[in-house]
Amino acid sequence: MIGPFRRALLAWYDASRRDLPWRRNNDFYPVWLSEIMLQQTRVEAVIPYFDRFLARFPNTAALADAAESEVLALWSGLGYYSRARNLHRAARSFTERGDPSRYDEILALAGIGPYTAAAIASIALGLPHAAVDGNVLRVISRLKNDASEISQAAIRARFTKEAQSLLDPRRPGDFNQAMMELGATVCLPRNPRCGECPVQRFCEGRAAGRERELPVKRRKDQARDIPLDLLLTTRGNEVFLIRRGAQERRLAGFWELPQKQGPIRGVKPLAKFTHRIVNDRFRVTVYAASSPPPTFREAGEWFSPERITQTPVTTITRKALTLIERSGRVLGKLRTPPKRSGQ
Ligand code: ADE
Repeated sequence: MIGPFRRALLAWYDASRRDLPWRRNNDFYPVWLSEIMLQQTRVEAVIPYFDRFLARFPNTAALADAAESEVLALWSGLGYYSRARNLHRAARSFTERGDPSRYDEILALAGIGPYTAAAIASIALGLPHAAVDGNVLRVISRLKNDASEISQAAIRARFTKEAQSLLDPRRPGDFNQAMMELGATVCLPRNPRCGECPVQRFCEGRAAGRERELPVKRRKDQARDIPLDLLLTTRGNEVFLIRRGAQERRLAGFWELPQKQGPIRGVKPLAKFTHRIVNDRFRVTVYAASSPPPTFREAGEWFSPERITQTPVTTITRKALTLIERSGRVLGKLRTPPKRSGQ
C-alpha cells in the first residue's frame, strides 16, 4: 500500500501544487529563508516579505553583510523578530564555514526545531527526514484513524515515526511539501474536502466516517486581555516614537508609540483595536497628545513616513498608524504589511 500511497500523493502534488515563490528552485538559501518565514506564519502573509527580502539580500553573503537594523526593517510586520536576528547571525557564521550540508547542522541553529530542520534538509538537500507540523499531524491522525491526543509530546513522536515511514526517500522534499499542501488545501481542519483528496482510498478516518472528529486536541488556553493605551503625537506629518530597551523580552530595539502613563479623562480615542500575540490579547486604544509625554521626551524621536518604512516598528504601532491614516486624521503614506497570524 505504501508505494501506491506515495505515487498518488506525489502525482497530485505535481499536478496541483501552488506556485509559491520559494518553490522555484531548491537552493539552500531561499529554502532556508522561506522555512524560517513560514514558522507560525501563513503562506499568503509570507509571500511579499519573501520576495522583498530575496530581492534585497539575494544570497547568504549579501545577508551577512547587512546591518541588523536593515534586516529587521525588512522583517517588520512579519512578527517573531528573533527569527530575523537568528537568520542574520547564522548567515554570518555560514560565510566562514559554508552553508550546512547535514540535518544535525541545521537543527543546531538557533530557532530551528525538528520540523523546520526536516523541511530544509529534505527540500534543499534531498535528505529523508519527515517534516511534521500541525497540518501533517492532522493528515496522519485521519489517515490512521488515530484519536490520540496530539498535544502530548509522546503522541507527536509516534505520529512523526508514522510520517517517517510514509516518507518517499526518493523525493523527500516534494513528499513533505505534498503532505503540508494536502493539510493546507484539502485535509482542512473543519471542512475536509475528501471528495478532492488524492489519498482518500487510503484514509482510515474517512472510511470510519470520523474525519471531522480528528485530530483530538486539548482545548487551547484562553487568551488573556491586556489593555494598552498609546499616545500619538504628531508634528507636520511626523510621529513621535520611542525605542524599546534592550532588556525587553520581546521586540527589543523596535520603535513604538509611547504608552499613556496616568489616566486621561474626556479625550476621545483616535483608534481602538485588538491585537493577539500567542495567548495575550492586547486591547489597544490610541489617544492624541499635543506634545510628547515628558517621561519619554528624551528617549523618543520624530519619524517621517519615509523613515518609518526603513525602521523596525512594532506591529501594534504599525496597525495603529494605519488605522489612523485610514480614518484620514493624521499622516500621509504610512503602510502596514498584510495581516498574519500570531504576532
Ligand atoms: N509551510 C511550511 N513550509 C512550507 C512549504 N515549503 N510550502 C508551503 N507551506 C509551508
